[in-house]
Amino acid sequence: MPKALLEARSIVRRFGHVEALRGADFTVHAGEIVGLIGDNGAGKSTLVKILSGADQPTSGTILVDGEAVTFGDPHAAREAGVETVYQDLALAADLDPAANLYLGREILKPGLLGKLGFLDTQAMARETSQVVRRLGVALKDAGASVADLSGGQRQSVAVARAAMWARKVIFMDEPTAALGVVQTEGVLNLIKRVRDEGIAVVLISHNMQQVLDVCDRVEVLRLGRRVGALRTAGASVQDLVAAMTGGVIKEQAS
Ligand SMILES: Nc1ncnc2c1ncn2[C@@H]1O[C@H](COP(=O)(O)OP(=O)(O)O)[C@@H](O)[C@H]1O
Ligand SMILES: [Mg+2]
Repeated sequence: MPKALLEARSIVRRFGHVEALRGADFTVHAGEIVGLIGDNGAGKSTLVKILSGADQPTSGTILVDGEAVTFGDPHAAREAGVETVYQDLALAADLDPAANLYLGREILKPGLLGKLGFLDTQAMARETSQVVRRLGVALKDAGASVADLSGGQRQSVAVARAAMWARKVIFMDEPTAALGVVQTEGVLNLIKRVRDEGIAVVLISHNMQQVLDVCDRVEVLRLGRRVGALRTAGASVQDLVAAMTGGVIKEQAS
């Protein structure tokens, strides 16, 4: 097994009396899609928020390439190469896809104009169409504002944005929950392409068949702890459900 890109060790997160995470471990390696599964309330979203800098652990360690790090905010996680796609499609609806891809990381014009804050919209549009083509995203109208795109296209823009900036890991919390069958297929293909570029993808999904189809490996959370890790090859939906609910876990591999 190659070295872990990102690792969580003994993460505890308390909210008052509620212990959302009780010593959770998690590991992700380069070039794999890992499913993070567990029943409602198992702590999946809390773990993702902590590993993407949106929340801080009460205690525990996060390692990137084996070095302990602190993600004080999402910016720190992004600097370390970790991007997140949220279920609620955090895009700016009035802007076109290129502007969304560069939101907060705009390219400035060269020279004095750039120093004065003028944006190089041509460069951004050019690079956007390159990323979009590389990832196989079919945008019907690259100049339309995101509000006018379909749910699937919006989610593709969100995934493309993460893919464009992620150097190590992309977390996706239920990225297809709001999508239809065809749109879901498009986003899943996009996730596989991102993985094939050597970036790790962590997928949270309630759809166990989808997890089996897309993920190379699965890590299972129950009551705020990792209770197992298994390869999806040869596993069944029943194996995943058993792992989530406390049955016997067939194979261990983290
Ligand atoms: N901000 C919060 N304040 C209080 N309790 C929270 C908060 N966020 C999560 N929790 C609790 O932590 C537990 C884990 O939640 P969550 O991480 O959302 O689980 P999952 O995503 O696996 O469904 C739940 O019991 C939830 O109610
Ligand atoms: Mg959740």
